[in-house]
Amino acid sequence: MQRTFAIIKPDAVAKGYTGEIIAMIEKAGFKILGLKRIRLSNAQAQGFYAVHKERPFFQGLVTFMTEGPVVVLALEKENAIADWRALMGATNPANAAEGTIRKKFADNIERNAVHGSDAPETAAAEIPFFFSTAELL
Ligand code: RTP
Ligand code: MG
Repeated sequence: MQRTFAIIKPDAVAKGYTGEIIAMIEKAGFKILGLKRIRLSNAQAQGFYAVHKERPFFQGLVTFMTEGPVVVLALEKENAIADWRALMGATNPANAAEGTIRKKFADNIERNAVHGSDAPETAAAEIPFFFSTAELL
């Protein structure tokens, strides 16, 4: 079993896609270990996306991720990290495969509906960024 971390981003939450996205997650065989709806602070968004802090899109990304509530999830499944990235689809929805979340719900490369950890080390850092051990029992 492997764990990964997911965010339903402000665009998708605002448009009322939370339920449909969670249904796709469960239908794909993920166990939802943790789930909460929160509003990220500027500091949280900057810390979470710190790896991108030198990128030209960083400030826009932080502004987007703090514009409204998000839903954060800790997910478990065999091969969870790769399988969740596959269900999300490509970062740019123009390149996302049919049947993926980004193909269905994303507007563009920045407002792209969902986040997913990209490696085991990333998942191991991102899950405790938002969930305590006690919340995932
Ligand atoms: P994420 O981290 O959110 O799961 O997305 P990702 O791995 O598919 O893409 P990544 O390269 O890590 O980029 C993080 C997020 O930054 C925004 N972005 N904007 N304007 C741009 O060119 C651009 N590129 C990336 C997106 O919200 C992307 O998901
Ligand atoms: Mg990423």
